[in-house]
Amino acid sequence: MSKILVTGGTGFIGSHTVVELQEAGYDVIIVDDLSNSKAEVVDNIEKITGKRPEFENFDLSNRADVLNFFLRHKDIDAVIHFAAFKAVGESVYKPLEYYRNNLNSLMNILESMKFAGVRNLVFSSSCTVYGQPEKLPVTESTPRLPAESPYGNTKTVNEDIIRDFCAAEKEINGLALRYFNPIGAHPSSLIGESPVGVPNNLVPYITQTAAGIRKELSIFGNDYDTPDGTPIRDYIDVVDLSKAHVVAIRRLMEGKNKSNYEFFNVGTGRGLSVLELVNAFKKSTGVDLPYKIVGRRAGDIVKIWADTTLANTELGWKAEVPIEQTLLNAWNWEKKCRGIR
Ligand code: UD1
Repeated sequence: MSKILVTGGTGFIGSHTVVELQEAGYDVIIVDDLSNSKAEVVDNIEKITGKRPEFENFDLSNRADVLNFFLRHKDIDAVIHFAAFKAVGESVYKPLEYYRNNLNSLMNILESMKFAGVRNLVFSSSCTVYGQPEKLPVTESTPRLPAESPYGNTKTVNEDIIRDFCAAEKEINGLALRYFNPIGAHPSSLIGESPVGVPNNLVPYITQTAAGIRKELSIFGNDYDTPDGTPIRDYIDVVDLSKAHVVAIRRLMEGKNKSNYEFFNVGTGRGLSVLELVNAFKKSTGVDLPYKIVGRRAGDIVKIWADTTLANTELGWKAEVPIEQTLLNAWNWEKKCRGIR
């Protein structure tokens, strides 16, 4: 049985990936410092899968702790690295914290992997590396553009660190997944997204508004160059996204990768505007959603969606969950968290 280290495994995408890995027959050990998640996520993963993942709580930006971890766990076959700070706005005010945490964690893991002879790494990257592309949809050969925020830059720089490390260390395989906009929750309503404070991202704001916690959704601008004037994104279901990690791990472990550093877009291939998403939410849940149009949010791009041909053909992966189901899952999770029937 192969064992996978999942860093950030109690977070939103991490926890769903742990479930999919376990359901595919992998053993999992989670490392998470619970800085943005709760220990009870481990209980809920066990409720879904019937199997309790191992769990250790420490900060991966501490080099000695990471080396020590790999010394104590000689049975790890691969790593999926999610653990990172991810609030775009906060990163603008606390750049050093973002660079220190997100870059050091990755470098500590790579160094320890080499030391411990662990060969395979899947990295959680983002479509943020493309900025506002000139041509849509974006393929993997679309050039990356300078990041809009320190957070975004940590994704770009971390991709470069993996690329350069894999060029120097031929026995190590790196694979970056560039996520588009991950949304939704597990259909069991046992795990989902739990933003701390006022949500920055669209779908948690929508579900909290529908739950009556927020008065109304503010739509940031309807004067963009899109059919209805609101920005367009490629919203990917979190369970679909998690399954991409399972196939990526399998690809590396079976030696099917074409080079020792690869990267793939992970989206649906379909762009939806903010208004289209709001309407899909109302339609699938039957819940009314008060909203108002306000000014544009600084740093927002106009439109982006993925060309997923490479992931479809090389990974044999494709997004499957319809958007209505994804939004219903997100709503059911919100209701469960708030005790709404
Ligand atoms: C944001 C980050 C991106 C990060 C991703 C993680 C920015 C500029 N980008 O993507 O780097 O990888 O989150 O999930 O922050 N919207 C509203 N009202 C709201 C919230 C959002 O109208 O209350 C709109 C936004 O203007 C945007 C769309 O909804 O057009 C999606 O926003 P969001 O969910 O924050 O994701 P991104 O901005 O695409």
